[in-house]
Amino acid sequence: MQEREGHAVWLAHTEQDTIDLAQQLAAWVKPGALLALDGDLGAGKTRFSQAFAGAIGVEGIVNSPTFTIIKEYKGEQLPFYHMDVYRLSLEEADELGLDDYFYGNGVTIVEWASLIKELLPPERLELFIEHLGGDSRRIQLTGIGELYADWCKALNEIGAGR
Ligand SMILES: Nc1ncnc2c1ncn2[C@@H]1O[C@H](COP(=O)(O)OP(=O)(O)O)[C@@H](O)[C@H]1O
Ligand SMILES: [Mg+2]
Repeated sequence: MQEREGHAVWLAHTEQDTIDLAQQLAAWVKPGALLALDGDLGAGKTRFSQAFAGAIGVEGIVNSPTFTIIKEYKGEQLPFYHMDVYRLSLEEADELGLDDYFYGNGVTIVEWASLIKELLPPERLELFIEHLGGDSRRIQLTGIGELYADWCKALNEIGAGR
């Protein structure tokens, strides 16, 4: 069965605009939610993740998990799993048993998610961050599945008023 899809574009002219998006998504988040991030080095995947973590009540510093692959944090309401799969082969990622995170009680953000597309649950929010020069970013969102398609719909309504 084909999942319902939604689309939205969030233009961030400043870093704060990216933070605003992260905070908005954090307000909607549910256990088992998955945010799949892509975009070149320096696009803002980790910055977005930090803002998201702060918004769900993770205390302390959220660093790039490039070398650790997966970091677990305790949020106020739910655990936060932050992954960076840039250095992993598909086989290595498969062996990590990522489903325990994806289908767990927390919320997962994966940086470079498209590298392990085959291993991702079908329902997810994909964010593609594009560097437009300076602090400007274009964030293209694709929501796959009811929940995430609804988020995109709501973002379009918010975005139109920005
Ligand atoms: N609009 C913006 N959104 C996100 N990050 C921004 C923005 N403007 C400037 N930045 C800066 O760009 C850098 C993004 O780095 P980072 O989040 O580590 O990228 P990535 O994880 O995609 O490699 C940070 O230093 C951040 O402060
Ligand atoms: Mg990063």
